[in-house]
Amino acid sequence: MVLPGTNIDLFGEIRIRTIKSLLFVLLCLPAAWMLFELLAGRLVEPVEELTHGSGEWALRILLATLAITPLRKLTGWHKLIRLRRMLGLFAFAYMVMHFSVYLVLDQYFYWPEIVADLTERTYIIAGFTCLVLCLPLAATSTDGMMRRLGGRNWKRLHRLVYPAAIAAVLHFIWLVKADLVEPAIYGAILVLLLGWRVRESGQRRTHKPKTRSTPIMGQG
Ligand code: HEM
Repeated sequence: MVLPGTNIDLFGEIRIRTIKSLLFVLLCLPAAWMLFELLAGRLVEPVEELTHGSGEWALRILLATLAITPLRKLTGWHKLIRLRRMLGLFAFAYMVMHFSVYLVLDQYFYWPEIVADLTERTYIIAGFTCLVLCLPLAATSTDGMMRRLGGRNWKRLHRLVYPAAIAAVLHFIWLVKADLVEPAIYGAILVLLLGWRVRESGQRRTHKPKTRSTPIMGQG
């Protein structure tokens, strides 16, 4: 239903706002559950379980963020894009939680060990790379920053999410000693998402007109 005198699709608007609110609650649940289990003394190996829980959720949400654009194109429901920023910020929040558990509870801020890990252990270097690549993305996620950078530069910067996701999957693959099934599943999902992205940009390049008369700033 379109509101008279506007082009606002009322039901579509209600639907996306409801989904966004539900998703917000859902994304808070893993952290709330981990905190509850910790405070209730139900974690057998608290540091290990918090590290694994936060790391896995960071990766899942990061991949869900990457899935928004393909889903939007496949379903034709463009309002889905309004979930992407929230998903990305939640992925970053779980990464920060994961890194904080490592820094505070695992290493007790013991810098010589941390520096040794960050320079010698390949899987830690990959995890850190992902976190560092996501920092500018989180910092420029506001509408104000998008305006200040300009749509085209903002989009270019936010392509860092792809190497970040590759680094996150490598982090998981390299830390696993025996059973590679789980990291391989995340890896396969990432390959599918990257493959879709490469195909899309190939098609866009093929259909792009030779000259353009209007700027494309600010396109989602
Ligand atoms: C400075 C950054 C990071 C550090 C120091 C770090 C450290 C760790 C450590 C110590 C483990 C446990 C290793 C083990 O059990 O032997 C781990 C596991 C994991 N990390 Fe990270 N990590 C970092 C960044 C990330 C990021 C950015 C992501 C995801 C986006 C991530 C996802 C994971 C996953 C999925 C696991 C495995 C969980 C499981 O075994 O179920 N990590 N990380």
